[in-house]
Order: sequence, then structure tokens, then C-alpha cells
Amino acid sequence: MYILAVDTSADETAVAVTEGRKIISNVTYSQILIHKAWGGIVPSLAKRAHQERIDLVIEEASCKFLKYKAIPFNKSKALEKTMSLIGAVAVTQGPGLAVALEVGIQKIKEIAKKYNQPLISVNHLEGHIYSCFAQNRKGNPDSDIKFPYLALLVSGGHTELVFLKDHLSYEILGETVDDAAGEALDKAAKLLGFGYPGGPVIERLAKEVKNKDVYKLPRPMKKSNDLNFSYSGLKTALYYLLKKMSTSEKNKNVKLLASSFQEAVFETLLYKTEKAMQKTGVSNLLVGGGVVANKHLRNYIRGLAKKNKGEVLFPPFEYLSGDNAAMIGIVASFKAEREMFIKDPNSIDRIPRYSLSDLGS
Ligand code: KG4
Ligand code: ZN
Repeated sequence: MYILAVDTSADETAVAVTEGRKIISNVTYSQILIHKAWGGIVPSLAKRAHQERIDLVIEEASCKFLKYKAIPFNKSKALEKTMSLIGAVAVTQGPGLAVALEVGIQKIKEIAKKYNQPLISVNHLEGHIYSCFAQNRKGNPDSDIKFPYLALLVSGGHTELVFLKDHLSYEILGETVDDAAGEALDKAAKLLGFGYPGGPVIERLAKEVKNKDVYKLPRPMKKSNDLNFSYSGLKTALYYLLKKMSTSEKNKNVKLLASSFQEAVFETLLYKTEKAMQKTGVSNLLVGGGVVANKHLRNYIRGLAKKNKGEVLFPPFEYLSGDNAAMIGIVASFKAEREMFIKDPNSIDRIPRYSLSDLGS
């Protein structure tokens, strides 16, 4: 069954057509250039950009799908034709920016009603977890799904360790008590004089000094007995370290500073993930979210899985690390199998603070 999925939770207008785990068509319009100048996402600008783009992105995703099906079409009728071939529509209900979520939800409601399609609601974070199961049109990679899993979510808004005993079952084992890992990297990059998003810049700078850890910044909550994370103190530690340095000293050491900060963030991620593996006895990992684009982090996690005789799945294609709608469609296919449809499309509303624990375990 084909599913048309939409995600407008933050600064990407994203639409995809999926079939089970297979991504048939995936279109993401990034607003990054709009927000870059402001050093972060500006809600009113995000809302307007989503509104301006959503129809075009839906049209493009439909056209790509019809091309794949080798069905002749007229661009203006592409959605109508696509709707005659799909079995359900899906949308991100949260978490995310309220005004941004609203745009996608409103649009999918319109489509569901107009074309009489069953509607599926997806939590953005389950999307990031399920991005690890994605396949291309040919069904590659053909990775087996082997529950139970321990999922590590590392994005700009979330840092969580989640236990999945089976499909669509989520138990949060630990989470950040303040900033998320991606947010910490973004803030550190800002302190070092770089723009948004900071994660990729920090990765590049750190790589140039072979990921050395010279400054030995604190590892917050490493000693706590729980599985929670904390990153705001780490950012403050960097702030005070920089305050003590002259501009030239700072400029000279910027790569080492970036690298040390990244090591502090990653070490706590690894430490708590290993602790969760030991506590649950589960060593198969799923790792999703924007920060998993980081190759150095992937290497660390591969090492951790190997050490604990587990297997790890990452989003198999680079574009799946960040926000996208394909991951929403993939979750929706498992919900469709279980007939988890929204009874009345009018009843669905955005949930900006939607937690995985609201979905139950
Ligand atoms: O999942 P995502 O696209 O959006 C949210 O749902 O938050 O994650 C965005 C986050 C940003 O904090 C960004 O700096 C980080 O992912 N990020 C990276 C890399 N690419 C993006 N962090 C570290 N290394 C990267 N290569
Ligand atoms: Zn995300």
C-alpha cells in the first residue's frame, strides 16, 4: 500500500510517498537559508515558508511517484492521480513548532477529506527512530528488523534513550533534562562565532584536529545513576573557558575547542547508551535524528555496538538523518497494518510537546 506523508514540524517542508519500508518519492524543501541570518528558526517565517511551499512540495512528490509508476500525467493533476493509487495519508502531529505543524496538519486534513483517504497520525520522534528501517525503491538495504531495540534519538530538539520491545511500543529510559545534544552543538558553534546549524561546522573543525580532546570539558551527569543527559552546563563551561581567552588565542585554538566540546557531548551519549544496554540487556541499537549525520559519532556507536555484541542500524541514506517525510510514511505503514487510523480527520490537532510516552509501551 502506498502512503503519502507530510512533515512540517520545524524548518523543512517535507512530503514523501512510501510503500512499507520503501521510499518511492521524497521531497524536502529546506528553509535553512531563511533562518540562517537569525541564528535559529523564526516561527513566523517558518509558518509562512511552509504555507508558500506545501502545495508545490506535494505536487513534486506526486510527480516523482507517477514517474516511478510510469504513468503519464499532467502536472496540475498529479496529486489527483496519485490519490487514486494510494491507500492512506499520514502527517506529523508533533512534537515541533506549533505554527509549523499546523500547516501540514491543515493540508493533510483537506486532502484526506477531498480524496476520502484514511488518515494516520505520526509522532516526529517515532519517525526518526523508524528512519533506521528505511529502504530505497529496490528494497535496499535489506536489513532484518530484530526487536527488542534500544533507540538513541539525537536531534536539535531531543536527546532520548528509548526501549522498544516491539513495533510502535516506546518506553523512555532517559532524556535530557535541559538542552538537546544538537542544540548544545549549535550553541557551542555560536559561541565560537559560527552560524546555524552548528553541528556540521563542529564536525568539520574537529576532524581537522583528529577529534582531539585537549580541554577536557566536564561530562555532565556522567556520574548520575539514571539514564538522563544534561548539556546546558557544558555550554556554560565553554562560555567561561572562552571568556578567559584573548581573541587571538580563541581563534588559534578554535578547532581544538570545537573538538573538545564535541568529545564531551559524544562521550556522555556513549556512556549512557552503554549503561542502558547493560540495564536492559538489549544490545541492538537504532540511532536517529539530525546529529547522527555526524560520521565520527557513527564510528563511536559502531564501536560500542561491537563491544557489546550488538547490531546497530542508522538511517541508511544521508538525507534521512535530518527531518524528512519518508520516515513518517514508514511509521505510518506499520500503523496501517494495525489499522491505526484517525476516525475523524477533523479531530486531529497539533501536539507541540507530543512525547513518545504518550503513545504507550
Ligand atoms: O533532526 P533534526 O534535523 O531536527 C530536529 O528535529 O531537531 O536535527 C537538527 C540538529 C541540529 O542541532 C544540527 O546542528 C544537528 O542536528 N546536526 C549535526 C550534524 N548535522 C546536523 N550535528 C552533528 N554533526 C552533524 N554532521
Ligand atoms: Zn527532527
